[in-house]
Amino acid sequence: MCGIVGYLGTKDAFPILMKGLGRLEYRGYDSAGTALLNSNGGLSVYKTKGKVADLTAFCNDKDVSGTVGIAHTRWATHGEPSSVNAHPHYSESKNLAIIHNGIIENYADLKRKLREKGLSFRSDTDTEVLVQLIEYVQTKKNLDLLTAVQLALHEVIGAYAIALLDKREPNQIIAACRQSPLVIGVGDNEFFLASDASPIIEYTDKVVYLEDGSIAVMRKGEDLKVVNILNRELFPKIQTVDLDLGQIEKGGYPHFMLKEIFEQPECLTNCMRGRVNVEATNVTLSAVIDYKKQLLSAKRIIIVGCGTSWHAGLIGKQIIESLCRIPVEVEYASEFRYRNPVVTDKDIVVAISQSGETADTLAAVRLAKQCGAFIYGICNVIGASIPRATDTGSYIHVGPEIGVASTKAFTGQVTVLTMLALALAKERGTVDDDTYFSIVRELSVIPQKMQETLELNDRIAMLSRIFTYARNFLYLGRGYNYPVALEGALKLKEISYIHAEGYPAAEMKHGPIALIDSDMPVVVIATRNSMYEKVLSNIQEIKARKGKVIALVTKGDDTISKMVDEVIELPDTQECLEPLVATIPLQLLAYHIAVCKGKNVDQPRNLAKSVTVE
Ligand code: F6R
Repeated sequence: MCGIVGYLGTKDAFPILMKGLGRLEYRGYDSAGTALLNSNGGLSVYKTKGKVADLTAFCNDKDVSGTVGIAHTRWATHGEPSSVNAHPHYSESKNLAIIHNGIIENYADLKRKLREKGLSFRSDTDTEVLVQLIEYVQTKKNLDLLTAVQLALHEVIGAYAIALLDKREPNQIIAACRQSPLVIGVGDNEFFLASDASPIIEYTDKVVYLEDGSIAVMRKGEDLKVVNILNRELFPKIQTVDLDLGQIEKGGYPHFMLKEIFEQPECLTNCMRGRVNVEATNVTLSAVIDYKKQLLSAKRIIIVGCGTSWHAGLIGKQIIESLCRIPVEVEYASEFRYRNPVVTDKDIVVAISQSGETADTLAAVRLAKQCGAFIYGICNVIGASIPRATDTGSYIHVGPEIGVASTKAFTGQVTVLTMLALALAKERGTVDDDTYFSIVRELSVIPQKMQETLELNDRIAMLSRIFTYARNFLYLGRGYNYPVALEGALKLKEISYIHAEGYPAAEMKHGPIALIDSDMPVVVIATRNSMYEKVLSNIQEIKARKGKVIALVTKGDDTISKMVDEVIELPDTQECLEPLVATIPLQLLAYHIAVCKGKNVDQPRNLAKSVTVE
């Protein structure tokens, strides 16, 4: 995890670094720090436990001058959150300072060897080991910083995006990456670096996404130089990013999460733009056109992902199997990668990841690739590690998701999976015209139906006040709505800290029914679809045990309305598209309950947006 930023140029570095860290706080926020090459030639490191705002306050009375600096916001992996373990870390002589995102897997071994050479350590982190190693190599052989970094990285096993300052080379930043993201912004006589483009785009739209194994050398008055650890020069492409600053700010909403929930109709319109034609008669995905042969020859699809992305995969499985008649398995990436799965060149592996950086999903992609599978990515962050590692894919195009709890990415993922199912089914000839056209037509009006659903916000806000007492919640759904129940439960637990479980409704009587009493709120997705009668019986079973039922029903359903405690009415839609509308009230319910309980909805405890560790 962790977010890193850097600046080298002619402006004061500190305000740029703090603003940049603020934009990266979603990556972790248990401590923060900065290192600056001051105007008096010193190298100052300031760090503190807490958030970026705590760091800014801490630096109030400090010398933060200088036009070259680096900064870090941390999500602890090695060593508890504390100012000592916060980055940047100094080398022994305090000539070098480093920031790091990733994990040095062999740090214990390296630390032992450096201790044997007489070095001592201030922190418990793997990062300090790295900076000490670099200095050890540098001093022993009297090397410049770049050569020392290249030699030291030969000894390192693990993932890293690092940036280093050297007091003796004050007009320079060296940065390197391997399996952790790093973007360099190229301005006029200035450079920026960051874990993603969001801290950079305010200043320049020219960026370089560094490939694994790259080392970037940024020097005042010189062009960007990128080499590898063998000092072979690389010539990465400078790309123009198309990210709007307004997209990453709160836009008048109290929280990013609420903003992102409300953005969903627009996001899905963007997601479908150029894919669902204006007449709503056809779906095209460029990846399906370009890789038709590989996609059509597959005998099986395996979907991998984590958390919310895995839930989207469960919905994708149902729609792909139903329309394409091809078997689909859905796996937690973290399990898949370690269980020696049977994967062959007859498989398509679909990797779903909002951030495109989740370590387990990336590892699952690499494993599947080694086994010869064709890899299709469904990601949001453009140019992230997973899309770069896949053979092809489709971006969900929902814009930056800053709230730690995933909302618009989920509905974007489900939309792309639906479009993939439709496009593949058409090519495979497994869908009849009526079914195909009616789903495409309905998909094209889903943004309007989502908008209608968002009008329930005030009612859900009122409802949520009733349920803040609850210590447990049960979420039930069947068919396409079973993963929606899982997702609703995940949203509630991660931001309100109320324990919640999602279950297929019929499974309730095989155990969870024992939990039901008059204190237990049960959210049931009971829309009028092929499962309606079955879900109705499940509701009766809960009411017979005095459970409190909040039912999501299709507008106009007065049968269920009479049986339950609270109803939320949803617009009618095709069964396979119901998750796109049914998810919204569950996101809002979790949001309002968490707000009523005074929780930090955008940055829930112990979580980070991008899980780049296993
Ligand atoms: C839940 C949530 C997480 C992520 C998971 C995968 O709200 O955000 O469960 O879905 O960490 O992240 P990505 O999609 O970035 O791979």
